[in-house]
Amino acid sequence: MPLNLVGIDDVLGKTIMKFENFDDRTYDHIEGWHINDDAPASSLERKFPYIDNGTDIHDAARYYDPKIAQLEWDRLWTRVWTIAGRVSDIPEAGDYFTYALGPESFIITRTNDGDIAAYYNVCQHRGNRLVLDEFGSTEHFTCVFHSWQWNLDGTLNQITDRETFRAETIADNPPLASVTCDTWGGFVFINMDPDCEPLANFLSPVADQLAPYRFEDMVVVKDVQTWWPANWKTALDAFMESYHVHSIHSEILGFYDDYYQQWDLMGNGMSRMLMEFGTVSPRLDDQDTVNEGLQGMLADAGLDPSKYKGPASGVRRAIQDHKVAQMKADGTWLDGLVDNQATDDWAFYIFPNVTLNIHPEGFLMQRFRPDPKDPEGFIYDIEVILHPVEDAIIPMYMGVEEGTDCSGKTRPERRHIKRGEPGLGSVLEADSILIPVVQQGLKSKGFGGLRFSEQEQRLRHLHAEIDRYLSGEK
Ligand code: FES
Ligand SMILES: [Fe+2]
Repeated sequence: MPLNLVGIDDVLGKTIMKFENFDDRTYDHIEGWHINDDAPASSLERKFPYIDNGTDIHDAARYYDPKIAQLEWDRLWTRVWTIAGRVSDIPEAGDYFTYALGPESFIITRTNDGDIAAYYNVCQHRGNRLVLDEFGSTEHFTCVFHSWQWNLDGTLNQITDRETFRAETIADNPPLASVTCDTWGGFVFINMDPDCEPLANFLSPVADQLAPYRFEDMVVVKDVQTWWPANWKTALDAFMESYHVHSIHSEILGFYDDYYQQWDLMGNGMSRMLMEFGTVSPRLDDQDTVNEGLQGMLADAGLDPSKYKGPASGVRRAIQDHKVAQMKADGTWLDGLVDNQATDDWAFYIFPNVTLNIHPEGFLMQRFRPDPKDPEGFIYDIEVILHPVEDAIIPMYMGVEEGTDCSGKTRPERRHIKRGEPGLGSVLEADSILIPVVQQGLKSKGFGGLRFSEQEQRLRHLHAEIDRYLSGEK
């Protein structure tokens, strides 16, 4: 299928690669950059010790080879915890949502006992998909083929014309096939491996660091799903580094430091990067003007840009002072956060397929799921999840439309959009144009493999973890 390149000219040709004011730069990969050199060891922004994943050039087959996609299914997806959805989407007994992963579909529901249960979404008569919608509420799960019916706790409720079955065929009153589920941070996770490690163990590298945000109190304010023609890792990789921002998203360099970032690697393939907002990129010549982007950030934070008389280099601190004081006054500042988090984007990665761009108000979640029929396609979910507020200050790149109800009183419908349709916000729309082009290049006979910089150390780290699953080491 020919690739739709409409819009590529808008993305490319904006490249800003110069870095003239830093001619003698060096980088120590063990030391890395620190977002705060003085951060105490107990601080959320402390620098983590370096994890050495080597310097290998990575074979590109992992991004397109159907055999590797199958191996990922057999050894990764069927054995790892993944986020299925939000607890807040099933508040009452009988509420349910479905979750697709690879060729499987799951039903996540609230039982009459108030527990959360998860089942393979399949009728035990002749294998029909039992539930067809994404969200709903019911007393029983009833198959549309011959009306077999199950209770919320998975036990069989009814077999139509039971007397026409010989007894042995249905002697076990087949229950729904359950799948292991657990919750953390307001998310429901599932794992297809009955012998899997506990969710708390799996999440232990990040759980403590994320606890202060109280994800479990947050509500979904935006929910968009789309499909892009690229391997799920081609897209995930792009969201794990800021190395491409100078080229693809140069419009944000006026208020975003795309270079001096803190990359921290953790156990189980997880990682984070701490990114300064409210700072002019060191790639730009003009470091002094309080440019439009900085003015926009001041205004976003409730400060009048025309009244700001400090230097450009003081904008980030001014926003932090104002925002922290204001959030403390209205009781929304979260205990344990550091002031830098008032401006900065803290991007966490939950292995294998979720990124979270976190702010005190909430986060942008991106989830990358493989297309089961095409290793060069993936399902891309974008959700914005916030502490409920009447008047939200939402970082502009999250792409929450004006007028969105962030009070938690209404749950937005999931929007299904085609690539290129509006709804993602300008930064992600630029990625939507580029990432499928990257996918094409990865398959070239002329491509010798991926060479990761230390700005891309999180990619090397996640691929090393995937390799441990695929090799059987995990
Ligand atoms: S396949 Fe579901 S009732 Fe027959
Ligand atoms: Fe991007």
